Amino acid sequence: MKPKKSILITGGAGFIGSHVVRLFVNKYPDYHIFNLDSLTYAGNLENLKDIENKPNYTFLKADITNEPEIHLLFKTHQFEGVIHLAAESHVDRSINDPLAFVKTNVIGTMILLNAFKNLWKDDYSNKLFYHISTDEVYGTLGETGLFTETTPYDPNSPYSASKASSDHFVRAYGETYGLPYVITNCSNNYGQNQFPEKLIPLFINNIINNKPLPVYGDGNYTRDWLYVVDHAIAIDLVFHEGKNEETYNIGGFNEWKNIDLVKLLCKQMDEKLGREKGTSEKLITYVKDRPGHDLRYAIDASKINKELGWKPSVTFEQGLSITIDWYLGNQEWLNRVTTGEYQSYYKKQYQ
Ligand code: NAD
Ligand code: TYD
Repeated sequence: MKPKKSILITGGAGFIGSHVVRLFVNKYPDYHIFNLDSLTYAGNLENLKDIENKPNYTFLKADITNEPEIHLLFKTHQFEGVIHLAAESHVDRSINDPLAFVKTNVIGTMILLNAFKNLWKDDYSNKLFYHISTDEVYGTLGETGLFTETTPYDPNSPYSASKASSDHFVRAYGETYGLPYVITNCSNNYGQNQFPEKLIPLFINNIINNKPLPVYGDGNYTRDWLYVVDHAIAIDLVFHEGKNEETYNIGGFNEWKNIDLVKLLCKQMDEKLGREKGTSEKLITYVKDRPGHDLRYAIDASKINKELGWKPSVTFEQGLSITIDWYLGNQEWLNRVTTGEYQSYYKKQYQ
């Protein structure tokens, strides 16, 4: 029997990673999917309960900054493809602890690149290192314009600086050592299983619990939102059909000012919870702004659309409604992830 193709997905117990792992495990029985994750506060194996017993799936608990362990795992499992999502991912946390972001996002990525290079340097045929990045590396836009693949990097937060740095190293390994790679830079994701430190799940959780909705600054910051399952579909497409050494921007064609998004969320939540219209909006509280807050992100996703035929499959209203339904139906998940460390984080960040 032909051996299964060995694919490593890092950060697969996190938000986006769990959707990518699920898609690959279910869609590709000829691949063996290894999900490598150190299970930080953001990693949760509960996200993968439905596929954990599949024969083509293995979970590896490991830290990407543990060099000897990572090299050993590459040697043992001979990963032919890597889809690298493991990262520290929250801007507010990066402001409080930038070094943690350098360790995982920069050094961890370097260690993976070296392990991949050491394993395959004599023959890179049919091998790929796919690095998942963010639109935040491009910095901020004014009221107009879009990020394209050629927009110069101009990161403003420790998070985006660490992601930009890792992108540069991936590209440098391609140029210097011929390591085959693709990079995608995606806009803000939302959907099931997102840790409730990010805007949408945090506000859903607070609305359920009648807690204030802390809008930073004047709320006139703009983000381009993409449903996480559509991101996973794009990742599948780029992994299989993306061109070597190319970058693709992925976005939702879906810009919202934070305050307008929050009002839409409040409206949908009131309807679903059977609360009187306007109830949740009363929870909106303007709070101190985030330092270095990027005004606007917006992606020009025409390259992936034209070259690979990808486009989002749901509207924002549909995706948001599915997302809210999931959180309302999974309040135990929410309760479990918001105990312990979350409480002290929340206090420090918002009080
Ligand atoms: P997440 O924080 O939900 O998950 C990150 C996962 O990585 C967790 O499971 C965590 O345990 C794991 N991890 C962290 N440090 C690790 C380490 N040192 N070793 C091994 N595992 C470790 O993040 P997410 O929102 O799913 O983002 C995934 C990737 O996508 C990140 O690279 C992020 O930069 C990128 N991205 C995210 C968004 C977004 O809106 N969330 C948008 C564009 C790009
Ligand atoms: P976030 O979900 O943290 O994603 P990112 O910073 O990566 O874009 O934040 C999205 C937007 O929402 C951003 O402009 C900051 C804002 N925001 C708030 O106003 N209040 C909050 O409590 C959070 C977490 C974010």
